[in-house]
Amino acid sequence: MCGDVRMLPMSAVLCTLPLPEPFPSRVSAAASLRVLGRVPSHVELCAELRSHPVDILCPQVADRIDTAVLDAGLPRLRGICVYAVGNDGVDVAAATERGIAVGNTPGVLTDATADLTMGLVLAATYRIVEGNMLVRAGEARRCAPGGHMLEVGLRGSLLGVIGFGRIGQGLARRARAFGMRVGAYDSAGVRAPEDMANYVQSFDTLEQLLAESDVVSLHTPLTDDTRHLIDERALRRMKPTAVLVNSSRGAVVDERALVRALKQGWIAGCGLDVYEDEPRMAPGLAECWNAVLTPHLGSATVTTRAAMAELTAANVLAILAGELPPHCVNPEVGSVSR
Ligand code: GLV
Repeated sequence: MCGDVRMLPMSAVLCTLPLPEPFPSRVSAAASLRVLGRVPSHVELCAELRSHPVDILCPQVADRIDTAVLDAGLPRLRGICVYAVGNDGVDVAAATERGIAVGNTPGVLTDATADLTMGLVLAATYRIVEGNMLVRAGEARRCAPGGHMLEVGLRGSLLGVIGFGRIGQGLARRARAFGMRVGAYDSAGVRAPEDMANYVQSFDTLEQLLAESDVVSLHTPLTDDTRHLIDERALRRMKPTAVLVNSSRGAVVDERALVRALKQGWIAGCGLDVYEDEPRMAPGLAECWNAVLTPHLGSATVTTRAAMAELTAANVLAILAGELPPHCVNPEVGSVSR
């Protein structure tokens, strides 16, 4: 029978940066996949969505998906699938109001991020990067018994974890293997899994945890409540021998205050994988030898990035099929069909 055959328009998916396999092969089997190949400016992203409407946008952590971007994507846009667990770059409430589902990639990067964070704890407390620079500059004095780069060590010292979710717990388990004591503060209450209950000390206040910890590590999502949670007052509460580690989101720390803290000795050092205005750093931070700095490597293993690509593809395919993504941060959006 040869009748009036109307072709349905093919679904379209836009990624700002290319994602690893299995994302491209799975998604391009179901939709037309376009990759910008760069992190666009906000204006560019809006223009792109208006000129080439898509059903689903897959942004990176650095892309800001606010009401202007969401509106530029309407009426066609029905999903934002973030290639990250943290979805602070997306205005989720505005997406929900517009019937747009938001997906993310929880769970699969817990080990990689907890490993990297433990690396920052070790590097910052044992001054590994500073020592490496001294050796390369030919300034290394040999193992002086009485006083060259002597550190307190981790055994018996207190790790204070702020935000006791998957990654905070993963760090606590690793720190325990180094003989550290573990304290935790979480604004939603510390819920330690059974195997950790006998060694995790829950702190009622952030102030108390900051004052007592030898290492403070941040694992909170970035929200209006946690922006600059670690400000000048918080830094001044820490011990002068303590170290601050952040692998969550840069803006949880007031980075300019942190530079003053590092330069003026309010704290001994820090390990950072994230920055307030990534990839830029606050003035003066790069000159602080007591800061160990890595370029947002928290999920940077081949298997982790592939697992994130798999979850992102699953989120995309579900939305294309008219279903909520399996890892949906706003299930209250209800339906994603247009
Ligand atoms: C990385 O920062 C992530 O949120 O996945």
